[in-house]
Amino acid sequence: MGPSAMKPLPLKAPDLSKVAEAIAAHRDQPGALLPLLHAVQDALGYVPSEAVPMIARALDLSRAEVHGVISYYHFFRSEPPGRQVVQICRAEACQACGAEELLAHAERVLGCARHGTRADGAVTLEPVYCLGLCASSPAVQIGAKLHARVTPERLEQLLAESLTDAEAV
Ligand code: FES
Repeated sequence: MGPSAMKPLPLKAPDLSKVAEAIAAHRDQPGALLPLLHAVQDALGYVPSEAVPMIARALDLSRAEVHGVISYYHFFRSEPPGRQVVQICRAEACQACGAEELLAHAERVLGCARHGTRADGAVTLEPVYCLGLCASSPAVQIGAKLHARVTPERLEQLLAESLTDAEAV
């Protein structure tokens, strides 16, 4: 995970309960670790460091094993994301259609490095690997919304629509 201006605060009790709920829901299924990590990230937006020993204990794994899986998959965040998450696909089909240029453009427009969260916490910029729109690349996801064939101009437009006035660049 890249630099972030926000230092995560200690996890609050309701968030710890959400981790405990995810553990209870998944601990007995075969290959529980990945679905469990997904459930934690779905609930909290990231996998907090406090969750690692809880998950390790529940699945009878070492903390290093859990941490290793979190760092191996780019998908999992170890820090809370910004209020808006912008994902730009860098997999093959999108690479061939200008994804790298699009990502560099997003960095400039947002004032935020890839894998990073802007200092004001407004936005996190993440390269991702396939959003399932390979035939209409390059693809971008902003929040829950997917966008196909995104040009740098269109990206600027989408970002302006997605960030509030106070957060816009
Ligand atoms: S390669 Fe980018 S959406 Fe699949």
